[in-house]
Amino acid sequence: MATDTPSPPVLCLNGDLVPEAEATLSPFDHGVTVGDGVFETLRTFGPQIFAWSRHHDRLSHSATVMGLMPVGSDVLRGWAERVVQANKHPHSRVRVTLTGGPSAPSTARSGSAVTVLITATPLQPPLAETKVITVPWTRNERSALAGLKTTSYGENVRALTRAHEHGATEALFANTNDQLCEGTGTNIFLVRDSALYTPPLTSGCLAGVTRALVIELAEQEGIQVHQDPLRFTALEEAEEAFLTSTTRSVQGIRQVNERLLPTCNGEITRTLSAAFARLVEHDLDP
Ligand SMILES: Cc1ncc(COP(=O)(O)O)c(C=O)c1O
Repeated sequence: MATDTPSPPVLCLNGDLVPEAEATLSPFDHGVTVGDGVFETLRTFGPQIFAWSRHHDRLSHSATVMGLMPVGSDVLRGWAERVVQANKHPHSRVRVTLTGGPSAPSTARSGSAVTVLITATPLQPPLAETKVITVPWTRNERSALAGLKTTSYGENVRALTRAHEHGATEALFANTNDQLCEGTGTNIFLVRDSALYTPPLTSGCLAGVTRALVIELAEQEGIQVHQDPLRFTALEEAEEAFLTSTTRSVQGIRQVNERLLPTCNGEITRTLSAAFARLVEHDLDP
């Protein structure tokens, strides 16, 4: 009689599908030694990858600016789909990482080919609402890495650990001008007088795929969107706010530090959340 044993998880390493337990990466990979890499986190709805083209564009941009050879969309997408299909999760978090490849253990690259790593792990539904904290550390809008999605995420790890210690799921940064910037893995929107306010890309935040889609949806819904610099304290004083990201979609903020917001998941947030859900239903590569 056939047994229903789940197959062991697999990943894609440089184009080869390999069991996770057997995958090996050089200890001298520049991604491991100095965080020299770029990445994307995508999600699937069922077996289908969402917003592939936008994520691939951003990955290619990050790679090009970092001087890493980008990988073509069709090839990379084919590899990502094979990983998703092989792992058979109801919904997956798909992580695509490109690193500088094996190099001498110093900051200089040795000119090797990039390492390409793709994983698909189970994705749980996001919480309907959440608590965030603010952190005293800044995003540097003039950094060589500003606006790039690189694997140098040590600052994010530290800030998110602090968030978890405070019972929150996200930590928000100001930039060096004390303007509201972004979270460790999210963009931030404030709702005021039925209009939306979100930091401009010049604040140093990542050009989030979800951020861009929410702005487009808001405009279609007739909601005004302001992308002007905001004081960091605007978040602490906000009436209503939400986070956006690939894994959270549109997530209402209930609490900022010790302060409960007067409104969480109010009409504007709900309208955008519903518009996002409709978008996913009719277009998986918007
Ligand atoms: C620093 C940072 N900001 C914002 C985002 C949200 O971007 P996206 O909507 O493309 O997931 C992410 C995503 O991981 C991120 O790492």
